[in-house]
Amino acid sequence: LHLTIVKNDEEMSQAAAELVLGQLAQRPNSVLGLATGGTPIGMYRQLCRNKADLSKATTFNLDEYYALPRHHPQSFFQFMKEHVYNPLTPLSYDIPNGEAANVEQECTRYETAIGRAGGIDLQVLGVGRNGHIGFNEPGTSFSSRTRLVALKRETVEDNARFFGDVGLVPTQAITMGIGTILEAKAILLLVSGTVKEEALYQLLYGDISPEVPVTALRLHPAVRVIADEEAASLLQ
Ligand code: F6R
Repeated sequence: LHLTIVKNDEEMSQAAAELVLGQLAQRPNSVLGLATGGTPIGMYRQLCRNKADLSKATTFNLDEYYALPRHHPQSFFQFMKEHVYNPLTPLSYDIPNGEAANVEQECTRYETAIGRAGGIDLQVLGVGRNGHIGFNEPGTSFSSRTRLVALKRETVEDNARFFGDVGLVPTQAITMGIGTILEAKAILLLVSGTVKEEALYQLLYGDISPEVPVTALRLHPAVRVIADEEAASLLQ
């Protein structure tokens, strides 16, 4: 695990964008695994500013809320349209369909699509306050695959800022599993803000345990972590 600590969210976003641009320069037809949420927004802005060329690239997202209509402004599909699909027009993109009538079939379809694309070259991750990656909450098996999950109370509360009211936040999602994530050839984890300090501390010094899903990354041979000073405040 390679850790870089930078000053703030802006520097984190710049460093992250440089890594993604490097990946695309090396392999224009890269398969990128992408995240939503507050953390990667600055990185997507930087990619737009730098006119990142995704014209040969394929993207897959980590997760999508379950039973939230795709056209809902807070669906991850809409987030991706705004930050990536519209401005950067990847050759192809895929995201779990949270409206699928047959969820199990949708999860199998998603895993198969990732496999057909040749697997993920670079997976971008954020981390939840409780250590979740994707929507793999504490207690998730490290061999888990794409499936329907229930969100923990703290995750629903953290995401209430996007919905305005905690009662409007979906309580289920379709997410890649930890096993799916660990199959990515390389992983880039972004950690920003004081609220993430415990998760980053656990990643570096905690036991490797399903109780803190992000610790699974210590089992992967090619992980880069870019954290800002606020997130790193427990480290010295
Ligand atoms: C998003 C995702 C989540 C977020 C995490 C942190 O696709 O899978 O694991 O990365 O909840 O969210 P933010 O960045 O909003 O703090």
